[in-house]
Amino acid sequence: ELPAHTEAYRPQFHFTPHKGWMNDPNGMVYFNGSYHLFFQHNPDSTVWGPMHWGHAVSKDLVRWKELPIALYPDSLGTIFSGSAVVDSANTAGFGKNAMVAIYTNHNTALEKTGSDKFQNQSIAYSLDAGSSWTKYKDNPILLNPGIRDYRDPKVFWYQPGKKWILTLATLDHITFYASPDLKHWKEESRFGKNLGAHGGVWECPDLFPLKDNGEEVWVLIVNLNPGGPNGGSATQYFTGSFDGHHFTPDDTHIKWLDYGPDEYAGITWSGTSDRKIFLGWMSNWQYANSVPTKNWRSAMTLPRELSIKKIKDQYRITSLPVKEFEKTLQPIQQLSNVMIKNNLDLAQVAKGTFQLDLGGLPPVDFTIELSNTKGDKLEIGFDKKANRYFIDRTHAGATDFSQVFAGKHVAPRLSTSRSVNLKLAVDVASAELFADNGLTVMTSIFFPREPLRNIRIQSENALLIKQLKLSAIH
Ligand code: FRU
Repeated sequence: ELPAHTEAYRPQFHFTPHKGWMNDPNGMVYFNGSYHLFFQHNPDSTVWGPMHWGHAVSKDLVRWKELPIALYPDSLGTIFSGSAVVDSANTAGFGKNAMVAIYTNHNTALEKTGSDKFQNQSIAYSLDAGSSWTKYKDNPILLNPGIRDYRDPKVFWYQPGKKWILTLATLDHITFYASPDLKHWKEESRFGKNLGAHGGVWECPDLFPLKDNGEEVWVLIVNLNPGGPNGGSATQYFTGSFDGHHFTPDDTHIKWLDYGPDEYAGITWSGTSDRKIFLGWMSNWQYANSVPTKNWRSAMTLPRELSIKKIKDQYRITSLPVKEFEKTLQPIQQLSNVMIKNNLDLAQVAKGTFQLDLGGLPPVDFTIELSNTKGDKLEIGFDKKANRYFIDRTHAGATDFSQVFAGKHVAPRLSTSRSVNLKLAVDVASAELFADNGLTVMTSIFFPREPLRNIRIQSENALLIKQLKLSAIH
């Protein structure tokens, strides 16, 4: 079911909680035909507060059903970010196919005493597909050695070594742990103190392989806050190899999975074998607590399928909306070989939700302007001289809730191809730009006074667009 269009800024095809505060996606796991999404949730307020794990499920990654809260704070603390796995071999002894959540207990009372050991890792299990949960009696299962930021465990089964691997954000580096049973963990190695971007604290990591023409490339995702390419929170990643003990990067470049201001804490689903589906929180800690939505705060990004590609001798991740989402699109306008001299106005989009696909453009200056009758406009485009894509939300609606919200954000064009293609998914209050088959991605939120129904493509050069497709969500 898609949400009704009755509340200002409520998106249609992005997950939002019915009410209350949401931040990071947690515990994403595919089980018995359903995609489970848990999330950082404060059900009683629209600002961050005591963290719970909210819960939603979907069969197609597009239509979400919110379920009762899965994990409540307990005597060990509130429930910070983490992951979930299906323990098909019953290594933990909780039961065959137990769903096991691995999360951080954040002990606020201990924090107040001045101790550094207030974040510890715990587990809980469910024998009924995530409906009811039992916390493990011997929690916590991984004790803090005295590091203030010690959190966000992401676990997967490493088949060659027949063991679980836990990737943990530990302040300014990553620590890897291994376990036979999800209960007993030993440290394997540390990574990253002197590599990557360090403008803030490292949070929410993920480690998984992707295949490039049969060759296995390991990806280590490390979310960073602040210090992103356009300010505040963002997702960086490393590519390299993993031997069950150590992660070894194959180059020292800083790489961003999404350059926009509004994708954070993104990680991938477990239980989807070779397919890697990524989901992020569509906000930024710089202003997440003050955005002008009323009954809830924040949405997730579109679920995105990840692939890997070599560009100028470096591995780069590409991300694109999942094929399930593409299936819900209904073309409303299709053009081929259109020459744009100055402006081209497209069909109006009813509710400010649509996807626009442009293919076979030359890399010259152009702008896609989305606007409404109140004079709000969002500009998305390409700047040839700087070889950059941009999203400018300076005049796209409300900005007064934050000093840093208004602005033009930019992202480098990484592709070496002579023609540009773009996919732009817009959903009332967000735009996700996937350029060059997902090599350069930017996510940006905005708050227009009424939906942006008008789409105009502008170019001062003569711009030939080989294919143009405007679609609605059905
Ligand atoms: C990232 C984060 C995590 C933490 C959670 C708390 O946005 O700060 O590191 O577990 O949010 O809600």
